[in-house]
Order: sequence, then C-alpha cells, then structure tokens
Amino acid sequence: MAELEQRGDRTPIPAAWEYASAPESREIVKLEERYGLFIGGEFVEPRSGEHYKTLDPSSEGPLAEIPQAGPDDVALAVRAARGAFSDGWSAASPAERAKYLFRIARILQERSREFAVLESLNGGKPIRESRDVDLPLAAAHFFYYAGWADKLEYAFPHRRPQPLGVAGQIIPWNFPLLMLAWKIAPALAAGNTVVLKPAETTPLSALLFCDVLRQAELPPGVVNIVTGDGATGAALVKSEVDKIAFTGSTEVGKAIQRELAGTGKKLTLELGGKAANIIFDDCALDQAVEGIVNGIYFNQGHVCCAGSRLLVQESIYEPLLEKLKRRLTTLRVGDPLDKNTDVGAINSRQQLDKIEELVAAGEEEGAEIYQPPCRLPEKGYWFAPTVFTNVAQSYRIAQEEIFGPVLSVLTFRTPDEAVEKANNTPYGLSAGVWTEKGSRILWMAQRLQAGVIWANTYNRFDPASPFGGYKESGFGREGGLHGLEPYLDFREDSTDVIGG
Ligand code: NAI
Ligand code: MG
Repeated sequence: MAELEQRGDRTPIPAAWEYASAPESREIVKLEERYGLFIGGEFVEPRSGEHYKTLDPSSEGPLAEIPQAGPDDVALAVRAARGAFSDGWSAASPAERAKYLFRIARILQERSREFAVLESLNGGKPIRESRDVDLPLAAAHFFYYAGWADKLEYAFPHRRPQPLGVAGQIIPWNFPLLMLAWKIAPALAAGNTVVLKPAETTPLSALLFCDVLRQAELPPGVVNIVTGDGATGAALVKSEVDKIAFTGSTEVGKAIQRELAGTGKKLTLELGGKAANIIFDDCALDQAVEGIVNGIYFNQGHVCCAGSRLLVQESIYEPLLEKLKRRLTTLRVGDPLDKNTDVGAINSRQQLDKIEELVAAGEEEGAEIYQPPCRLPEKGYWFAPTVFTNVAQSYRIAQEEIFGPVLSVLTFRTPDEAVEKANNTPYGLSAGVWTEKGSRILWMAQRLQAGVIWANTYNRFDPASPFGGYKESGFGREGGLHGLEPYLDFREDSTDVIGG
C-alpha cells in the first residue's frame, strides 16, 4: 500500500493486491448431454430433428446439445398451452394458482446455489452476481406475484380482470432466469398459460426450471419451454398465441411490432437503452464512483438499463475521473465461477464482435480510451473495463447501445444542459441522478424521459417496482401492479359502481 500511495500518477494497478482464487464448485450442477423441448409437462424430442451446442463463454467449451425448435414444435407447445388454459388453469381458483407460484418461489430458493452456478456457467456472469442478484430477485418475483394471484379484483376494482389465454414470451441472454421470472410469474398469476423461448446462448437455466415446475406439480402444459434461435422466436410470434411479451433488441422489437400490427394480439416490448448517469458537483463523490462502476460494469454491461453515458458536471470532472480510473484498476476480470470476480465473460462471440466494433468506432471518431491494466484469459470471450473520454454527443459510442463494459463520459455545466444531453437519445429506459439535494432529484426526475430513475444509487430492482421504457426502449411495464395489466383483459362494468 505504501508503494501505491507514493505514486504521482495514481492509475497503475496495485500489483501486490493479489487474491487467492475462490472458485465455486460446479459439481452441484448435473447437465444432460442433450435436452428436449418441455411441452405438456414433459421433455420431448424436437420434430425439427435439429440441435445445436450451447457453450461456456468463459472457455468456449460445449456444455450440452439444445433443440432448435421449428414451427411445428412451436405449434405443438402453443396447443399444449391452449389445452391447459381451457382445461382447468383459467378456471382454477386464484388461491390455487397462488399456491403453485409460492411453491416455485420456495423451490428456487432451495435450489438457488445450483441455479446460480448454472447461470454463471452458461452466461459468463460472475457467480457473486448470479448468487446475490439474479437468484434472490427471481424468487422474489414469484413470491410477489403469488401474493397478487388471489387479489386481482382488489388490484383492479370494478374492471373485472380476465386472463388473456396463451402468452408467448421471448427473452434475452443477459439475465436468463430473472427474465423468465419477470415473464412467467405475472402471466400465471393473471391466469394465463405460457410458451417461453429462452435466448439461444443461455437456455440451460430455463431447462432446469422445467424440473422446478415438475417438483411444484404445476399442471402439465401451463408452462412450456421451446428452445432455439431467432427463427424459433419468429415462429412463436406468428403462432396462435394471444399475447407476445418480448425483451431484447430494438431491431427485433420493431420487427415483432410490424408482424403483429392488425392481428389483435397484445404486445409488450422491453428493448434497448442508453442511460445517462448524471453526477452533480454536490454529490458524495466516492459513493458516486461506486454507482458508476455498478451502473456500467455490472454483468459486463450486458444490461438494458446500464448507465452507459456518464454525464459529469464540469467542476468535478478531474477529481471524479481520477477516482474512477483508480477504482477500475481494482476490478478483477476473469473466471465467472470465482467468488472474487467482478467482471466475467462476454456472453457470446457475436456480442464480443459488436463491442469491439463500437469501441474501434469510438477511437476512430476521436474519443480517448482508457483501460486498466488487466490480463484477460486466453480462451473464451473477454473485454476489459473501458472508459471513453472526449466523447461528443454525435459519436456512435454516445448514441448506440454497446451492451458491454464500455462507458462514454460527457460533461455538462447546468442542470438544463444535463437534461438536454440525457434526453438526446432515441431510447428512454433509465437514468441515474447523483446529488445531495432532494429538490434537484425531483426537478430532474420530472424532466428526464426515462421509465426508471435512480437517485444516489443505480441498478436496483424490486418486484413491486414497475420497469419499462419510453420511445425506442419499448412500451408496457413489468413488475408491480403495472406488470399484471398486460396479461389481463378488462370488462369494465359501469353499473357496478358501489360495492361490487
Ligand atoms: P435479439 O433481440 O436478437 O435477441 C433477443 C431474443 O429475441 C432472443 O431470444 C432471440 O432468439 C430472439 N429473436 C431474435 N430474432 C427474433 C425474431 N425475428 N423474432 C422473434 N424473436 C427473435 O438480441 P441479440 O441479437 O442477442 O443482441 C443484439 C443487441 O440487442 C445487443 O447487443 C443489445 O444491444 C441488444 N439487446 C438488448 C437486450 C435488452 O435487455 N434490452 C437484451 C439482448 C440484447
Ligand atoms: Mg439478434
């Protein structure tokens, strides 16, 4: 430490700060060599006859063979869901539906270590995050919506809430189990049945979840899981479902919206983001540095609401950047299953290519790049935590979603300028505000065009709190009471004003 303190330039790595490795054992996870599709309560061979290999992105080693479901498989799953809907689930007493949701939540808690290891193995995220964020939040979502299942009449008084039927749900690879929970829990609580498609690179936790459903004795066909790539997703969008819920890229979201236009099928879209994390000169600087790091390096930056544009008030630009760069040198990049790891593997080759392409564009356009010295593993997909300074608003790295551990820093002088720059994006998912003044937080929150605004914190989630975007970040909300609405039809009854 003494050596470190003597340095004039404070950015180099504190070389003596070595951590002994602390790997989580992967023994707890039992993988099949080859999986089936989960349709009607059992694993079945895909009619398509096609499989692909899913990988561990930290080593590029294959983990298992996964079915690539075709249109016939999707149709079969939708029929199973339709059958389960009319054959009991929609008419089941709401308390009965709640019972299954509570069971699922408890089983997820009991098996959380197994799920956390699997999530890190297949997705590349640090075990510390899967263990402390993904798993507790996934269970919390099932608990939360279990509580609403028998209270829908109170949640929506005089609106006679009814389930829609079969919900088709398509989820991404950044929070595989958590996104599954966000989708399945409200759908079932509202009395729907489900066909869910996990992302092609991260199907394993959804397939293990099928085992939880069997353990919970959920009636067959209420939840069906079909694996495969975008073609499978497109087949689900075209199928006989009553609603599509999608989380993923804005590009695919737009295509789905076009496909569903005029069909009467309901749609919610949770798409990309390019959030501003705004630092005022009166904030607690060290706390803000932690919030910036959590905002952009959490889950390798594979976060739709990531604080990827840092807006710093000019008066504190230099001390803040110095603190931030120094903090970056202490981030440990490496083995996702090591409990010391802060930044894990990039989820896929495709995503790494995209990050590298945008970072090269940033350098070409004239931004200044900083990366702390770190040794990246030889195999697997990796990208060092990166900060860009001298960024103009017109640069691609200030406009486009990078979805990686890459921060673009801009500055502002006045609150008005901060608002203008923050809103200068096609997206509108989230924002962060760091200031000591409550009045300024409220002033900013009224003006920022974002679905979620964090104050003096970042990337905090709670099942009771609605989440979703404006503009090209999509529409519809997940979480909270708001999250039930997209899964319900309302037969509003004006004669039924008093008493119900
Ligand atoms: P993507 O939007 O292609 O994939 C998300 C899900 O949609 C996956 O399950 C995929 O199989 C499915 N899908 C793909 N094409 C489809 C289609 N035509 N019809 C129906 N479903 C389809 O996202 P991708 O290619 O994995 O990532 C590209 C970029 O999208 C990322 O770099 C990131 O910027 C953004 N993204 C944003 C996410 C978010 O949480 N908002 C999540 C994932 C990606
Ligand atoms: Mg794609």
